Amino acid sequence: MKITRLALRDFRNFAEAEVHPHPRFNVVWGENGQGKTNLLEAIYWLATLRPYRASRLRELVRWGHKATRVDGAVERDGLIHRLAVEVRDGERRALREEKQARTAHYFGALAVVMFTPDDVAMVRGSPELRRRFVDRAIFTGRPAHLATVLDYKRALDGRNRLLRESAPDDLVDVYEYTLAQQAARLMRARQTFVERLAPRFAAIVAAVAGEELGVEMRYRPSLAIPDDAGDDALVEALYQSWIGDRARDRERGFTQRGPQADDVGFTLLDRSARNYASQGQQRAIVLALKIAEIQLLEEIRQCTPVLLLDDVSSELDPRRNARLFEFLAAFEGQVFITTTDPGFLKIDAERRIWRVEAGVVTRQED
Ligand SMILES: Nc1ncnc2c1ncn2[C@@H]1O[C@H](COP(=O)(O)OP(=O)(O)O)[C@@H](O)[C@H]1O
Ligand SMILES: [Mg+2]
Repeated sequence: MKITRLALRDFRNFAEAEVHPHPRFNVVWGENGQGKTNLLEAIYWLATLRPYRASRLRELVRWGHKATRVDGAVERDGLIHRLAVEVRDGERRALREEKQARTAHYFGALAVVMFTPDDVAMVRGSPELRRRFVDRAIFTGRPAHLATVLDYKRALDGRNRLLRESAPDDLVDVYEYTLAQQAARLMRARQTFVERLAPRFAAIVAAVAGEELGVEMRYRPSLAIPDDAGDDALVEALYQSWIGDRARDRERGFTQRGPQADDVGFTLLDRSARNYASQGQQRAIVLALKIAEIQLLEEIRQCTPVLLLDDVSSELDPRRNARLFEFLAAFEGQVFITTTDPGFLKIDAERRIWRVEAGVVTRQED
């Protein structure tokens, strides 16, 4: 899949922009604060309908304006798909072929994997960052995962509300059973994903780092998944755990254990990477994770995602940078890569250079 056209209107600091990207490499070049990351964010939003950085939709709308829109044309298997996403009157709308589309119908034409310097925080930061990575990656391969996440969240909010309202036990019981079913689905998805990603990740991290870090990745659910348990047994086990937690959770006013408290652990030679990984090792780990994610996607979805690399070269040391470009040379998909200095990027052919200055993007002649 390749983006053949991208148009922005009143998106972040862009008033109006239109680009016809190269099917292979697109170098987005500009000083700091000019809008390079914003451009990638527009692509990410178009693909996922979720902002990568912003926590509120209105942050995406150009200051002083009321609406924003991103349009894209995507070529996939010889067909052109037209996608658009907009915010108007504070509401988000997704359009496919100019018609408003329900999210389930919207996804499928465009899949992206994004990598920004902020992702490095994932190794040492809070578990939430690692859960978000896992859920986003599952979603990229299987958009229906979004509903799994949201259904669980809704059920969890329901239980928390009942606990705070001191609702009677038989009512909480009903909620907990639903919650257990939603949780089991979410946990299975995370477990399966991490189990499939982990061996690839370990192989890549060794290659990227060019050294044996002995890195392992493991799903760490906050409620244990019983060995060899079928789905019914898992639901029952979760349900029983919450019944056991109920009195304490009532006092706290929220549900302490469950997928909302899951983690993914990384270890370096059996030590927690969260406590011990150096800056360089953290970067190698995150880079390897993203590459593993892409390989898994290619396998399960039979498609190569569009890769969005934000300012990564400046973050990597020369050796890891060289590995990154070896990977990119072999990667067959479309790439958008931002930089303040094109000299960092070892891409000499099959490329277009886009200059970004104060929210204006222009094509640079090579
Ligand atoms: N909603 C918005 N409206 C107008 N400008 C915005 C908006 N959101 C961010 N900006 C501006 O975008 C610029 C940052 O763009 P960014 O893409 O992060 O730069 P960089 O080129 O360094 O990646 C800042 O100048 C910021 O003030
Ligand atoms: Mg930036």
